[in-house]
Amino acid sequence: MFPEQGPIGIFDSGYGGLTIFEKIAEALPAYDYIYLGDNARTPYGPRSFEVVYQFTRQAVHKLFEEGCQLVILACNTASAKALRTIQQQDLPHWDASKRVLGVIRPTIEYLDTISKTKHVGILGTIGTIASQSYELEIEKMYPHIQVSGEACPMWVPLVENKEYNSPGADYFIQQHINHILNIDPEIDTLVLGCTHYPLLKDKIANYISDKIQLFEQGDYVADRLIDYLHRHPEMDARLTKSGSRRFQTTESATKFAETASVFLNKEIEVEQVVIDNE
Ligand code: DGL
Repeated sequence: MFPEQGPIGIFDSGYGGLTIFEKIAEALPAYDYIYLGDNARTPYGPRSFEVVYQFTRQAVHKLFEEGCQLVILACNTASAKALRTIQQQDLPHWDASKRVLGVIRPTIEYLDTISKTKHVGILGTIGTIASQSYELEIEKMYPHIQVSGEACPMWVPLVENKEYNSPGADYFIQQHINHILNIDPEIDTLVLGCTHYPLLKDKIANYISDKIQLFEQGDYVADRLIDYLHRHPEMDARLTKSGSRRFQTTESATKFAETASVFLNKEIEVEQVVIDNE
């Protein structure tokens, strides 16, 4: 049995989810949080459906063991490849009162308001783009929106290796931006469909016209979470609110603390954990 009261869990394959954590914690500061990064096994982007599902499942189970009541998959790749199976197969069997939410659905909800031309581009990992999760969800919700996807496999390594401001980054950014805008020149909204990409935003902005908007997920995911908690007071009542933040990684705690300080602009304490023995 998992604890019946506890924090909000936020999971990512590595550091990227910190861009989502930051916005959620800013919007809901009183809540307790545990952030878990599976840095030992990142990147998830190029991995198969089955592997991303197994890794994500282990991480979510670990966060429930730690007392989390609600886990946000702050990773597009995990949301695309593992969310539905965990919701439908694992939760009923583990504990039907717990919840797991992803980042793709909350992002999509805003696209119709934001895009004027109704031509949208999704920038993501190989896994997210190959899963066609954005296309399928958008087709259900807004069939009049035309969607093009672009996999940008080098962008996560650029961020993970702190090369996102280097001249080398320009080459890979320009390559993918030019490619997607050639496929559909009417695109007016580019979704940063990977939680690492906000760190590349300034550079991406150099390769697009000012008629194109870059859509960052963090604020929208936070907004949808606030709405979710209003609609689910029974979940809200189980979430503890002492303003605590814990950071966990499956790799070196020192290394995580060092890189996380770039994402969060502050020093944090980090615990190293094992998650693959569920
Ligand atoms: N940050 C993850 C996402 O949003 C991807 C990083 C990875 O490839 O592990 O898709």
